[in-house]
Amino acid sequence: MKQKISFTLNRETVTVTANGTDSLLTVLREYLDLTGTKFGCGQGECGACTVLIDNKAIRSCMVAVEDVAGAAIISIEGMSENGSLHPIQKAFITHDSMQCGFCTPGMIMNAYGLLLRNPKPSRTEIINGMEENLCRCGSYNRILDAIATAAQEMSKKPKL
Ligand code: FES
Ligand code: FES
Repeated sequence: MKQKISFTLNRETVTVTANGTDSLLTVLREYLDLTGTKFGCGQGECGACTVLIDNKAIRSCMVAVEDVAGAAIISIEGMSENGSLHPIQKAFITHDSMQCGFCTPGMIMNAYGLLLRNPKPSRTEIINGMEENLCRCGSYNRILDAIATAAQEMSKKPKL
C-alpha cells in the first residue's frame, strides 16, 4: 500500500507517495525523475546506484524507501552547489576518469563517502574503499588518481 514518506534530498525536504518497500533507487529515478543515480545490477553488486544517506555511501537499490524516512540523502544531482562542481567532480574531469560514464555517479558518491570518513586516505585506502564499485570500461587508475587529487583539494583550508 502506498504511503507518504518524507526525507531530505539534496538539502531540500521532499515527500513522495510510494510503496514503502520500493527501493530508494526506484523512487529517485521513477518518482522524482533524478536519473543521475544509475540502475546497474539492481542487486547490490556494482555500486552504480550509490548515494549518501546520512553521510554514508549506500547502494540505493538495496534500501527500502520507508527506511530512509527522516534521513538526509545526497544524490549526484546534489553534489554541485551554486553552479560549482564539487572538487570530486572536477577531479574526475581533470583526470578524464570516465569513458561511457555509467559508473561515474556511483563512483563519485562512493568516493565522497570515503573522503568524509577518511579525508586523507593513502593510495591503498582509496583502492580498498573503491574496490566494490565496478567500471566496465576499466577506468580504475584514472578514478583512483581523481580521488587522490580531490582529497588534496578538499583538505586545503579555505583562504581567509
Ligand atoms: S544497481 Fe545497486 S549495486 Fe548495482
Ligand atoms: S566509465 Fe564506463 S562503466 Fe565506468
